[in-house]
Amino acid sequence: MFWFDKRDPRGLFVDKRRESHTLPDISSKGGSRELVVDPDLQCDFTALPFPDESFALVVFDPPHFERNGASGWVGLKYGTLKGDWREMLRDGFAECFRVLKPEGTLIFKWCADEIPVSQILALTPERPLIGHKSGKQQKTHWITFLKSQRTADAPDDGKSDGQEENDERVHPYQRRRTSITGLGLQSG
Ligand SMILES: C[S@@+](CC[C@H](N)C(=O)[O-])C[C@H]1O[C@@H](n2cnc3c(N)ncnc32)[C@H](O)[C@@H]1O
Repeated sequence: MFWFDKRDPRGLFVDKRRESHTLPDISSKGGSRELVVDPDLQCDFTALPFPDESFALVVFDPPHFERNGASGWVGLKYGTLKGDWREMLRDGFAECFRVLKPEGTLIFKWCADEIPVSQILALTPERPLIGHKSGKQQKTHWITFLKSQRTADAPDDGKSDGQEENDERVHPYQRRRTSITGLGLQSG
């Protein structure tokens, strides 16, 4: 939806579904419109099939409707939040940061029609850097995170001297590295 070209070879578009729909729409030429979800790779953003630190840029655009999207065009277009979606988004964020290179950028999009963005940002320990609201009602948030730089010469060996939790120089992501190992990531 925000791509200039979904087939641009610099990008990899992932989504958990591959489907197409023709829906009646009197405002469209011919009285109907097409929805095609055709990712480069079908996968779950809570279990991304990519190694750690693979990408310089990740864009996370998860579903944002819980109620409105339950049926109809909106639900088909954006997907819906079901079940324990907070856990799903928490895992999604963790995966985005896992596959990002140190100093990589995560762009997160959220439309706060139903759920305030503050509730969603609470699902990641990462702190956003800058943000912008758009749309007529200023409900669509574009938020940028910058992943901290990992000390390449001191990789996490799972051992701690017990000081790390209190050391402000250690970014939360670095503290969490061992605990997120094995989780899989994202959506375009
Ligand atoms: C707001 S739309 C993203 C649209 C996308 N930015 C585009 O340009 O087409 C949210 C998408 O997230 C997908 N989705 C929902 N849960 C997912 C998951 N666990 N893993 C991967 N994709 C998921 C939905 O299928 C839906 O297409």
